Amino acid sequence: MSDDRMESVLKEERVFPPPPSFAANALIGDMETYRREHRRSLEDPDGFWAEAAGELDWFRPWERVFDGSEAPFFQWFVGGKLNICHNAVDRWADGEKRDTPAILWEGEPGDQRQLTYGELKTEVSRFANVLKSLGIHKGDTVAIYLPMTPELAIAVLACARIGAIHSVIFAGFSADSIKDRVLDADSKMVITGDGGWRRGSVLPLKSVVDEGVEACACVDKVLVVPRNPGGERMACEMRPGRDFWYDEVVAGVSDECPCEEMDAEDMLFLLYTSGSTGKPKGIMHTVGGYSVYTYLTSKYVFDLKPEDIYWCSADIGWITGHSYIVYGPLQNGATVLMYEGAPNHPEPDRFWDIVDRYKVSIFYTAPTAIRAFMKWGDDWVEKHDLSSLRLLGTVGEPINPEAWMWYHRMIGKERCPIVDTWWQTETGGILLTPLPGVTPTKPGSATLPFFGVDAAVLDPEGNEVDAGLLAIRRPWPGILRGIWGDAERFRKTYWCNWDGRYYFPGDGARRDKDGYFWVVGRVDDVVNVSGHRIGTAELESVFVEHPNVAESAVIGVPHEVKGQGLVAFVLLRGRDAEGSEELRGELNDLVAKKIGKFARPEKIIFSADLPKTRSGKIMRRLLRDIATGQALGNVTTLADPSVVDSLKEKYQA
Ligand code: WT7
Repeated sequence: MSDDRMESVLKEERVFPPPPSFAANALIGDMETYRREHRRSLEDPDGFWAEAAGELDWFRPWERVFDGSEAPFFQWFVGGKLNICHNAVDRWADGEKRDTPAILWEGEPGDQRQLTYGELKTEVSRFANVLKSLGIHKGDTVAIYLPMTPELAIAVLACARIGAIHSVIFAGFSADSIKDRVLDADSKMVITGDGGWRRGSVLPLKSVVDEGVEACACVDKVLVVPRNPGGERMACEMRPGRDFWYDEVVAGVSDECPCEEMDAEDMLFLLYTSGSTGKPKGIMHTVGGYSVYTYLTSKYVFDLKPEDIYWCSADIGWITGHSYIVYGPLQNGATVLMYEGAPNHPEPDRFWDIVDRYKVSIFYTAPTAIRAFMKWGDDWVEKHDLSSLRLLGTVGEPINPEAWMWYHRMIGKERCPIVDTWWQTETGGILLTPLPGVTPTKPGSATLPFFGVDAAVLDPEGNEVDAGLLAIRRPWPGILRGIWGDAERFRKTYWCNWDGRYYFPGDGARRDKDGYFWVVGRVDDVVNVSGHRIGTAELESVFVEHPNVAESAVIGVPHEVKGQGLVAFVLLRGRDAEGSEELRGELNDLVAKKIGKFARPEKIIFSADLPKTRSGKIMRRLLRDIATGQALGNVTTLADPSVVDSLKEKYQA
């Protein structure tokens, strides 16, 4: 946990009540209603969640709202039948919103597409029929490795429609990461593209997939979606019998495809995320609870109205995109903007240009992006008319009060509430958040729990404390249902504290006198780099694959823009035991190959020794002190205290 952050949030006393004009028009506009409904959601959770679920279409009603008898394997809406694609697409396409835009899309080069709900239904149905024609059935796992084009949303929805389990792999991951995820999930098909644009160049997705699936016997089809539908394809090598161009297979398929009737507890998707071991975990989400939870949080946290243009700048490759680009907003019948590329292409004002041209009214982004905009300078913002904005959001990591204030002043012009939303891949949806028409906000605080969420800050014994571990004391509909293929790890990771009674998210937090939550950061060996979760153990296991590396220790350090950055201490052996630029390059390449470029550390320090206890445990705490230039903690338990001085020298060099 960062001491810097602890210090700055402890000093934060500013409070920003929602602007009265916002509150007057909000779906929930007064604290009294929030308090009453929150209380009701805890006192009568079955009644509360039944009412929320009743706002969606069900093919068959549930028999029981909640079943906790197999804890921590919880079930929601037991016996109910539904399809999230029906609620996200058909419900609107077959009604008054048929001609309302569902997706407004802009490619990085500036090309644009728009899909109404009616068109989205047709596209999703056709895609679903293509999947079926290539042998995909309900319960099969399909990996998706696509750029941020409408086809990514369409592919995800098409899987949901036929009951295939999607496993989206962020398009920045390497071939090796694809392989690990495809094998773990036993994916039968990989959906990829011929390319996608990022910062002015084309990502060669297909060739990365080819390398990734080479050793994956489970994959029998690779479906390649052209980046420019109806236009020119980018060159790809196609293996006959395995690889299919989407535009060829789709010609002639029907645009009718009924939604599969899914059991509420059937799997919807897997999404891999990093934990404190070397192996990423496949987080499992099921249809019913996830539908209801993403629907309700989207509605109230973003105060969605029919006239809104809603933009979440995340990638669908992460949970934010699953829940708050695709499923949540579309289940509310919203108009969602999607942008393919980088925020600073061709210039650092691309986002503000988009807000201006599309008249975006709700904008949801990450603190790391906000800090980058701050750095690029106010001039880029001032060039554009941002008066369409009415609500701002942040997610992914703690936001520092300075960045919050800049967002509030420069982007929100002091008119727009900011919702700082705390949640995780595992939680499916937002758990701690202001309600924009209700909650007075404090810069840096995710404020209060959403309906149905019983959050607390506890010590290891379970007593409520001002600063300690964040705990969620009862399950909510969107909670993960497990880790794919590893029930033991599921129990150990999330149910290890408080006799397994409460969910442990791995974050530390503080609670102030108003009951507001201030999430301080991870307390496990997970580092949040630009909102991407990276396990230090994962990186360490990459380094030791290099023949010259004997051992390594990776830590997270505060980073001005990324929130946290990675520093690797690497112990060498054999050739080049001193370390060289060449070796540094090799190690960076190895990280890019094994995980992805985004996981490369800020700094690699070669060292002849690492600070260890007499029992041989690396003292990461000391490494963190060295990296942050702090007074060193207790060194008396070190086997060789002199190691620290030489490391300090190297770090500062
Ligand atoms: C971790 C989850 C939630 C979608 C994106 C990241 C940190 C997330 C906040 C916030 C403080 C936050 C936590 C959490 N985090 N949002 N508003 N304030 N910290 O999902 O990759 O599953 O990471 O991100 O540490 O545990 P994720």
